[in-house]
Amino acid sequence: MRIATIAFGLLLGAGLVGAVASAAPPELQPLPDRRPTPLPLEPPAPKSPAARLSPAARAALRTRMASHADNFTALLDASVRVDYARVADAAERIEKQKSPAGDDPAELKVALPRFAELQEDLRVRARALATAARERQPDRLAKAVSELSGTCVRCHALYRE
Ligand code: HEC
Repeated sequence: MRIATIAFGLLLGAGLVGAVASAAPPELQPLPDRRPTPLPLEPPAPKSPAARLSPAARAALRTRMASHADNFTALLDASVRVDYARVADAAERIEKQKSPAGDDPAELKVALPRFAELQEDLRVRARALATAARERQPDRLAKAVSELSGTCVRCHALYRE
């Protein structure tokens, strides 16, 4: 009972202090903004020479690359499992890949001068890999996988900076 009375008195007192405080607000200076400047989540993407292509040609290039990526992933997986038939199939899909619709060789040549040469290199290496797999030659297969991936890397190093 007594405690309740004291508590009530305290609450009332706090309310009064609050009321007085709000009646005469002190002069408040705005606090300086100390929030750190947010860092960019990613560095700005460097401009690829592929950006010089028309939207249609670039979309066609990306379709081709998406297909390379699928086949390459499949052949890597099949290689480590020494599944010769699947390696050969995926390598042959890379070898035989047709130019996608919208792919304009003249335009590619202007924007990416060494594209055709490296694309041909890819085709030859994919053939070598498929042959090693069809002939069930593990050492040649291992070397051919790394040589094929070397061509992906070289072309990207040229054109993805
Ligand atoms: C002859 C050149 C060349 C070869 C060979 C090549 N690429 Fe590409 N690749 C490119 C270019 C150019 C781009 C950038 C396309 C863009 O920025 O629009 C690219 C982009 C890609 C991308 C990213 C696509 C995207 O939407 O950002 C993947 C994945 C890719 N390539 C996979 C491969 C794989 C796997 C191989 C090898 C089996 C390969 N590429 C071989 C030229 C090549």
